[in-house]
Amino acid sequence: MPNDAVTQLRTEARKALDAAPDQGALDAWRVDFLGRKGRLTGVLRGLADLSIEEKKTVGAAANALKLELEEAFDARADTLRLASLTKSIETGRLDVTLPERPHLQGGLHPVTQLSRKILDAFRSMGFSIIEGPEVELDHYNFEGLRIPADHPARDMWDTFWVDEEVDGRRSILMRTHTSPMQIRFMEEHKPPIRIAVPGRAYRFEATDTTHEWMMTQVEILAVDEGLNMGHLKGTLLDLFRRLFGQERQIRLQASYFPFVEPGAEVAMDCYVCNGKGCQSCHGSGWIEMLGAGMVHPEILDSMGIDSRKYTGFAAGMGLERLAMQYYGVPDIRWWYQNDLRLLNQF
Ligand code: PHE
Repeated sequence: MPNDAVTQLRTEARKALDAAPDQGALDAWRVDFLGRKGRLTGVLRGLADLSIEEKKTVGAAANALKLELEEAFDARADTLRLASLTKSIETGRLDVTLPERPHLQGGLHPVTQLSRKILDAFRSMGFSIIEGPEVELDHYNFEGLRIPADHPARDMWDTFWVDEEVDGRRSILMRTHTSPMQIRFMEEHKPPIRIAVPGRAYRFEATDTTHEWMMTQVEILAVDEGLNMGHLKGTLLDLFRRLFGQERQIRLQASYFPFVEPGAEVAMDCYVCNGKGCQSCHGSGWIEMLGAGMVHPEILDSMGIDSRKYTGFAAGMGLERLAMQYYGVPDIRWWYQNDLRLLNQF
């Protein structure tokens, strides 16, 4: 009779074990059937009440069942482990053939790219690249460049002043061009001098398609024995040919800047129409590129550089307008609106 109880227990245990869906159920099963207070232990404890004969048969059967269930438990645990591993491999599978998600990549601003091209050209012609302050003293921006207070030439550079007026004068400003670096450099260095100065300059101007209140300039200055307009012209021609093609020509027209003598406005023949006249050059065949000239002898002398022995040339160009030409962008204000639809094209 009690043997039936063992058989019954076996049936129930195996059924419950086969149905255990996961490790948690398995642990509960073990407690239920094999634990210290479990059902099989109960049967074994009940042996005490049985006769010797029954003890033998039931005891043997119960012990056999204990071994059997322990093995079955291990087997089921293995099966479940394998199943969950297989499942996680299936569902967590990484498809390495999927295309990656697109990600935005930063890049250099087109004006920066152009600036680097220009500086590369000057560097290979023997110029050193130096930089200077954007907040500048009147002394360097104007005075030292032969533009004293009240000089009408100051009207060429509408100025953002930084400090308050003292005795009707102010002395700190946002530099209106990179030319003050000519003075700063000659103060500290003597010829031979060959420098290219990239940097920002500011003008207190209304904006329109060709005017911005901030621009990037590149200034060059060379001072040495025997330099003349030919060297200036050759240097600029070389630059323009590198940027816009070997067939380019340049034109110098007399112009006035207080810090050069003679001074020139330099133009390049239009690379779109080869000088015939088109939309890009407004029909003239020429594109104004920069201001330039021979360093005024008074400036050399004021820097302690003997103007009877040394001469120099200088030029300064604004890059935003050049970049408009170079990249075919019609409005100067677009450069700094940070519209990715524009910037992503470069
Ligand atoms: N600094 C002048 C400007 O910004 C350009 C220039 C530079 C002219 C050097 C002559 C020599 O207008």
